[in-house]
Amino acid sequence: MPAKISLPDHTSILKDVATPLLRWYHAQETERQLPWREDPSPYHVWLSEIMLQQTRAAAVIPYYENFLHELPTVHDLAHCDDDRLMKLWQGLGYYSRARNLKKAAQVIVTDYGGELPADYKALRALPGIGDYTAGAIASIAFGLPTPAVDGNVLRTVTRLLAWPADVLAASTKRATFELLAPHYPAGHEAGALNQAFMDLGATVCLPHGAPHCARCPLARLCLAHAESCELVFPHKKAKKARRQEKLTVFILHQGNAIALHRRPDTGLLAGLWEFPHTTGHLSQAAARQFLETHGLPIARLQSLPAARHIFSHIEWHMHAYEVWLADDALQIADPPVTLRWVPLAEIHQNYSIPSAFQYFLPHG
Ligand code: ADE
Repeated sequence: MPAKISLPDHTSILKDVATPLLRWYHAQETERQLPWREDPSPYHVWLSEIMLQQTRAAAVIPYYENFLHELPTVHDLAHCDDDRLMKLWQGLGYYSRARNLKKAAQVIVTDYGGELPADYKALRALPGIGDYTAGAIASIAFGLPTPAVDGNVLRTVTRLLAWPADVLAASTKRATFELLAPHYPAGHEAGALNQAFMDLGATVCLPHGAPHCARCPLARLCLAHAESCELVFPHKKAKKARRQEKLTVFILHQGNAIALHRRPDTGLLAGLWEFPHTTGHLSQAAARQFLETHGLPIARLQSLPAARHIFSHIEWHMHAYEVWLADDALQIADPPVTLRWVPLAEIHQNYSIPSAFQYFLPHG
């Protein structure tokens, strides 16, 4: 059963939001010139929204431009080789976004003749497209009157209404969508309104520190501002702590090649190439023993500086060793894990090593 939600009072405030917010947005537009706003074709809007899900606009721009240069159409994306796709995504993280892009492109080609569907529900049904992204594409690319509720919208709306709902709850997101939808314009202004919320959240109704209410086009409507309690909102119930994991990573050299291992096709960093590793922190002696019992004779072994990598729900604490194997190391029959030996220059050129392992990647 969906969680019960207490709806805010004073929701009629929301009917007065679009006009001043759009006026403000159009006055600002020259200040936030973003490439996907200049040519908002459905493919461009979709790609930009997926890239922007976990990454700041300024960081996305070069990836976005390069991606479209390499894969200018939905057809190109649908037929792109997986390793090339991962290379184009390298540095953006959350690689499942890229995999879902390709899966969705294949559906768009087979079911919709290569054109994204101009329909919220059909967009929502594509791999990797959730409520927010469906709303953003439907409004920005197709002019449909659908909100795109992200953290910026939730922060702005809960402040406007002084609404103490937990913004991390799906029920709050749903309720916000329902409260806003009746007040959305159609046509170009639908997408403009969603992007106005994004810009307001990024530059005025800020997530950290005091918001700039003196510059806010909605200040005279805002209940949190009227009561000087802007920082009380948004409410967030405490998240679960990240799982802490210890790893020992091996940079194994054999001649001029380094060992890579392909991760399983599902789960964290699915299908990406990594350096071989084991769980726990091994001392030098334990590391030597570990490698030797796995049939890898060592010529030289040295410690590398430790590193930490934070994923959304896991934290890796990594110790690492750089190891030069004895010359005959590759004669081993039936190794317990399948390693691929790749010259360093080729790793730099053709392999997308996830950021979590970049700390240990020797310079080319
Ligand atoms: N963040 C997510 N979508 C965006 C957009 N269309 N413009 C700017 N920032 C965004």
